[in-house]
Amino acid sequence: MAYETLIVETRGPVGLITLNRPKQLNALSDQLMSDLAAAVETFEADETVGALVVTGSEKAFAAGADVKEMARYSYIDVYKGNFITRNWERIARCRKPVIAAVSGFALGGGCELAMMCDIILAAENAKFGQPEINLGLIPGAGGTQRLTRVVGKSKAMEMVLTGRQMDAQEAERSGLVSRIVPTAELVDEAVKVAERIAKLSQPVVLMAKEAVNRAYETTLEEGIRFERRLFHSTFAAEDQKEGMAAFAEKRQPDFKHR
Ligand code: HXC
Repeated sequence: MAYETLIVETRGPVGLITLNRPKQLNALSDQLMSDLAAAVETFEADETVGALVVTGSEKAFAAGADVKEMARYSYIDVYKGNFITRNWERIARCRKPVIAAVSGFALGGGCELAMMCDIILAAENAKFGQPEINLGLIPGAGGTQRLTRVVGKSKAMEMVLTGRQMDAQEAERSGLVSRIVPTAELVDEAVKVAERIAKLSQPVVLMAKEAVNRAYETTLEEGIRFERRLFHSTFAAEDQKEGMAAFAEKRQPDFKHR
């Protein structure tokens, strides 16, 4: 399916979504976020796709929600229209792993979108920030919550209260991104990681993602109990038998996603 604001393609078992409003630095308009939700929905339903990559342009992953569009909204528009909740959160609910490949600006909603993904790979020129305060706003797509959980209170407060941006080095030191890659190799590297995940047992990958995400939602004891139950249930998967048999027989496993 063709989208007005995205380029969507598959690379083998990987669904690759490129945000495509380059003139507006990929400002996240309502249309773009609805397109993104639809693209995620399609890849989620496609059994041949095991993981997703979301990226932008070299200059901007996304410079935030579309300020010119938001400037027209009233309180009733955003409340009644369920602004953000209606379409932005679809990607955070994706069960398949999603990798954000971030080059250039990831500001405001752009930073929040990256944080809704499971792994962030940063290009050397990546810049992360929550500059909403300069516009008389606060982050509205999870920035105050996800950033704080990831980088801690002091850094999150400074970024949210002053709009200070983090470069790629600081983002890596803070644990916001998993690693930094050369800008020209960013998308290929993200696709490589996604491909590697997609070759593994799909149901077991879903369980692993679900278990890690649980760490953000519950106590340690409950999280470990949840992990243990999922771990036990991997023993019911054909792929778990195949994985261990392949190890013993010194060969590559042939996972059937069962
Ligand atoms: C709408 C945007 C935009 C945005 C850039 N543009 N960011 N349009 N919404 N968030 C547009 C500019 O208006 C301009 O259009 C074109 O993209 C190029 O941008 P420039 O500013 O000319 O580029 P540059 O000088 O290189 O500066 C880059 C920049 C700056 C530092 C990233 O664009 C910037 O500060 N953008 C806004 C960042 C921001 O405040 N983001 C948070 C938004 S609020 P024209 O037509 O003039 O060429 C938010 C709320 C989230 O995200 C909460 C809920 C989701």
